Amino acid sequence: MEQRKMGDFGGIIHGGDYNPDQWLDRPEVLEEDLLLMKKANVNCVSLGIFAWCRLEPEEGKYDFDWLEKIIQRLYENGIYTILATPTGAMPQWLTSRYGEVMQVNAYGVRNYAGKRHNYCPSSPVMREKTRQLDTRLAERFGAHPGVIGWHISNEIGGNGGDGACHCDKCQDAFRKWLQDKYGSLEQLNAAWWTSFWSHTYTDWNQINSPSPRGEDLVHGQNLDWRRFVDSQQRDFCREEIKAVRSNSTLPVTTNMMEFFETLNYFKWAQEMDIISWDSYPDWHSGADELQTAASTAVAHSLMRSLKKRPFLLMESTPSVVNWRQINRLKRPGMHELSSLQAIACGSDSVQYFQWRKGRGSSEKYHGAVVDHRNGEDTRVFREVARLGKRLEKIAPRVIGTCNRPRIAMVFDWESWWAVKDARAVDNNLNYQAVFVDFFRPLWEFGVDVDMVDMEGELDAYSVVIAPLNYMYKKGYAEKVRSFVKRGGCYITTCWSGEVDDSDLTFTGAHPLEDVLGIKTEEIDVPDGYCENSVRYQGTDYRITGLCGLVHAKGAEVLAEYQNDFYRGYPALTRNAYGDGESYYIASLNERGFLKAFYGNVLRERGLECGLQVRLTEGVVVNERSRVAKDGEQVERIWFLQNFNREAAVVELQACYENVETGEKVTGRLELPSFTCAVLAEG
Ligand code: GLA
Ligand code: ZN
Repeated sequence: MEQRKMGDFGGIIHGGDYNPDQWLDRPEVLEEDLLLMKKANVNCVSLGIFAWCRLEPEEGKYDFDWLEKIIQRLYENGIYTILATPTGAMPQWLTSRYGEVMQVNAYGVRNYAGKRHNYCPSSPVMREKTRQLDTRLAERFGAHPGVIGWHISNEIGGNGGDGACHCDKCQDAFRKWLQDKYGSLEQLNAAWWTSFWSHTYTDWNQINSPSPRGEDLVHGQNLDWRRFVDSQQRDFCREEIKAVRSNSTLPVTTNMMEFFETLNYFKWAQEMDIISWDSYPDWHSGADELQTAASTAVAHSLMRSLKKRPFLLMESTPSVVNWRQINRLKRPGMHELSSLQAIACGSDSVQYFQWRKGRGSSEKYHGAVVDHRNGEDTRVFREVARLGKRLEKIAPRVIGTCNRPRIAMVFDWESWWAVKDARAVDNNLNYQAVFVDFFRPLWEFGVDVDMVDMEGELDAYSVVIAPLNYMYKKGYAEKVRSFVKRGGCYITTCWSGEVDDSDLTFTGAHPLEDVLGIKTEEIDVPDGYCENSVRYQGTDYRITGLCGLVHAKGAEVLAEYQNDFYRGYPALTRNAYGDGESYYIASLNERGFLKAFYGNVLRERGLECGLQVRLTEGVVVNERSRVAKDGEQVERIWFLQNFNREAAVVELQACYENVETGEKVTGRLELPSFTCAVLAEG
């Protein structure tokens, strides 16, 4: 078989987490796995994710033979391996001999052994044991032709908690990190505003991690702690990467968890060759399936945006999860639709957790391709196998393409952390949910969106949308100013430009007052006591959250508040600046408002959906395209997805090719419930 690499696989990867280490005493099961994998069109598996106790059954005694046999056997049967470093869970010999490897929680209590994702990233023992094992794994398997890449650890930081360790070693490392950052206590005290409540630090050793037993109300300190936790985990991961790279040139990834609060994935992306993530949407959970689909699309888009390249869907369930209170089966069709949604948003893979259900412990009822019984004769297996065939069919047209949005949304982890801590008029404010609200109408229009953080490049985009962009990091306002000056369209909202990198409020004018053409004043939250609405182009839209009281200072007023003492105040403004323009949306409104407003912006900027189609409610489109060396688009593919529980009909206004059947399609196109059609120009 040809040599392949993760990220340059030459096809769509289809497979997933395979845990043969739980079945080593049942060779007939492993034989059946192979047979069934072929029937399911599986071409790749992730191995060894939680296999530390099999790979190093005793300290310093390694046993890789069983793994080699499996990798080889898979390879001989056309199935490649993404090999994990097994630090996602620690073996008993390690945790019982070296207490320091376990995390200490924010109350100062060290955890007992068990569960996973829970090592102390500062522990020298943990680092050394990991280095030795990873180095040996890479030495043994780094050149195996069946191995295509490294899966570093597993869902790093995710243990149901905040991923932080508060042990003495981590406290020391935090103080060292602060010393490097601030140089002096004067600087630190100023940045943290510690004269508040008389908490000025006079010795570095007085500083501890935030704790409910002690200090957790100094916002600058909380923010720096989060930055430190992220950076310490990243440092540990970097050492793992270094260890595998000492013996292997294969690409590395780690499976991320979308908007996982603890880790700033924009920073993590820089350590990775390829982005991958685990997606578990709560399908069929409410009346509005589209909301689930929209939040999933946001997450996929974020993952694609981290490198502006296709990513890998590393885990998904083929049927059901078991960790929510209620776990619904994916209805027929939803597995294919949700998998193709991932591809539509830029994934080059569909992988599962997991291949075969285990017999015991907490995941025995988690969905898998192969159930406890009935082998290939299950609904889930048949759907997986059918999808495998479809992926194989569309792969030649899909591989090499990517989504190329002209619109970006600003999503910044540090700003998110600061917003959560803010304690202002609305302490239930859900930044992420608001972010999805600002994304959803664009997605419903069939328009792809990238995500950038405040350090990202804006100039490649025509429109940049920054909802609740609370923190302005150093240089950010400048960057926006020059983006707009050169013709960009900048859209932002209330609760933006409030604080600097240290979570200290700006004083004086809004940092972008000149660009926005407004003066900001107070913020309110209309509720039962005082309902309010916004009138825009003759229609009233209900206010659903924060609303800023602002005054036009050169900007044109496009919408106004309808009630209360601020009736007539601007609710939407537009300001021409340089060759571009900016919009300020003063309040969070019901969805129809953004739909109307975005519709106008898309039209003015010529950014409408590339597929010529009249969409109906619940049907969305994503576009992936291939570009030639000179940057010209040479092929465009559209994924038309119906998330409705009923069939939908769309009207194609031009002639297209159905990529799977080769047939020409035009005019009325019927999409059965939970299906996706893949179309190309032609
Ligand atoms: C995560 C983990 C997997 C498994 C699944 C279950 O994604 O990485 O090991 O526990 O959750 O949904
Ligand atoms: Zn620690």
